[in-house]
Amino acid sequence: MEEPKIIKNPEVFEEYFIPTRILHREDQLMGIRNDLKPLLSGKKPRNIVLYGYPGTGKTCIAKYVVDELRKEFPALYAYVNCWKEESGFKILYNISKNFSSSFIQRKGISKDELLDIIERKIQGIQGIVILDEFDKLSDERILYDLLSLSGITLILISNKPNALQWFDPRIRSRLSSADIIDFPLYKTEEILDILKDRREWGLIPGTVTVSQLERIAGASEGDARKGIEILRIASIEAENRDLDKITDDVIEKSIPKVPDTQKHKLDALNPYQKLILKVLNSKPMDSGNLFSELQSLSEKQGLERIVDRTFRKYMERLVNLGLVRASGKGRWRKYSKS
Ligand SMILES: Nc1ncnc2c1ncn2[C@@H]1O[C@H](COP(=O)(O)OP(=O)(O)O)[C@@H](O)[C@H]1O
Ligand SMILES: [Mg+2]
Repeated sequence: MEEPKIIKNPEVFEEYFIPTRILHREDQLMGIRNDLKPLLSGKKPRNIVLYGYPGTGKTCIAKYVVDELRKEFPALYAYVNCWKEESGFKILYNISKNFSSSFIQRKGISKDELLDIIERKIQGIQGIVILDEFDKLSDERILYDLLSLSGITLILISNKPNALQWFDPRIRSRLSSADIIDFPLYKTEEILDILKDRREWGLIPGTVTVSQLERIAGASEGDARKGIEILRIASIEAENRDLDKITDDVIEKSIPKVPDTQKHKLDALNPYQKLILKVLNSKPMDSGNLFSELQSLSEKQGLERIVDRTFRKYMERLVNLGLVRASGKGRWRKYSKS
């Protein structure tokens, strides 16, 4: 095979790759580390729930912190994606397989027997289970059973805010003391930093410029996965075309190839919220000016004026969706587009 001209290490762009360095997630890292700390002194930590839109770093950061902890402390560990392993049996089978060093016969074994194996394995040693995309669980009972085992700490991850509200009250009550950690969408500059690291680890020096990475970051809509994926597709394309560098043209063609995860959110907004985003697109604004700008724009569009309280409610929703950032309080509250 010919010498690569663009890609030094393709693994860096793969989903399973865990970066050696996590950027811009200090609060979340600290939160999970602190939650798990009791393990080091033999106590049972709180369970943890991570929420955030796709590509906000939930999976990678959960795995990163657990890896880090296991360098200091011998906890058993299993990672299961409930979207891929939707049946309760498969989930328990995976956990027991990860917890034990010996082979587990899959045929003819029941869920209760698997639970027994798991329970035996955690005698005298703690177990950590990451249940990713736990809202896709088809068998709630599994969650209830796992929550009943005192030797297991659960890290539950979901893309859906309020994923828990659909679960049985008994499960919710067992999770009422869980630590809930939010992962907001990334800012463009934050994605840029993440992309710079991937460039360094994955690409041959001089093959992509910072301004090209800025273009990719801007097109990523707060979703780090999208940014990394665009860079991956562009690198492969440039390599296939036998180029020495990634060109702007290659980048522009790669952007639409990565599906838009944020679009569904924008579709769900009402006309006022769409107008607000449009205004903030051009510049950040304080609450008062934004409100009067919105009033005059909505009038032009033949929309009824809204009262201040409604405005605040819409703003709160946009902030919760991670589409708008807010700082300051009351009259001094300032908004900007994420
Ligand atoms: N803070 C970060 N620093 C470095 N890489 C990150 C960071 N956040 C996300 N990534 C990378 O972005 C991609 C998506 O992150 P992931 O954890 O899978 O998102 P989520 O689980 O929230 O959908 C992964 O390749 C991950 O390694
Ligand atoms: Mg994930």
